[in-house]
Amino acid sequence: MKILKVKNYDEMSRKAANIIAAQIVLKPQTVLGLATGSTPIGTYAHLCELCKNGDVDFSQVTTFNLDEYYGLDPTHEQSYRYFMNKHLLTKVNIDLSSTYIANGKAEDVEAECKRLDNLIEEAGGIDLQLLGIGHNGHIGFNEPSNEFVKDTHCVDLGETTIDANSRFFENRNDVPKRAITLGVKPIMQSKKAILIANGDDKREIMKKALFGPITPSVPASILQLHKDLIVITPLDL
Ligand code: PGA
Repeated sequence: MKILKVKNYDEMSRKAANIIAAQIVLKPQTVLGLATGSTPIGTYAHLCELCKNGDVDFSQVTTFNLDEYYGLDPTHEQSYRYFMNKHLLTKVNIDLSSTYIANGKAEDVEAECKRLDNLIEEAGGIDLQLLGIGHNGHIGFNEPSNEFVKDTHCVDLGETTIDANSRFFENRNDVPKRAITLGVKPIMQSKKAILIANGDDKREIMKKALFGPITPSVPASILQLHKDLIVITPLDL
């Protein structure tokens, strides 16, 4: 694992965006794994800027998002499809039909999970996976549990996740209780992964994830076994 210690959020975001852009320059048909949350917003803003300046071309890129709330329509302002379109996908020259996010309204959830796993496999796996981390150590919505789940699945969100995400909803009861998330297999099989984390409230969980025991009770701890993990953070770890 490589840890890049940066000065602040902006430097973290620029470094992450530059690595993603370099990946696309070197391999125009890159398969990107993308994350939502407040942490990657700056990374996406810098990527939009790089694309606008002609430094990176998304026209042949394919993207897969880590997760989506179950029950939210893709047009819902709190859906992750809406978030991704707003912060990145409609602002770069990507073909939107090559951007995949679980459909939170899918009638047959199991079929939807299988569809995503098949699409990732057909795409040859993820070249570069961007990740944030939850206060409980989740990656995507792989919540603390007693096992690592390999494949895409529907998950009950933990109380700490619902609390953390309630800031985006009018009231806590509006936060969906379930989500569809990629499992740990495509994340761990990604050829390169970038983990970004910002804010003192993430220091303890980052220490546990990166230096503690590898356990499904801290899902991000499995990243210690990733073959090419770059951690970018202003935190003293
Ligand atoms: P955040 O979420 O970037 O909003 O802190 C990260 C996560 O839950 O994975």
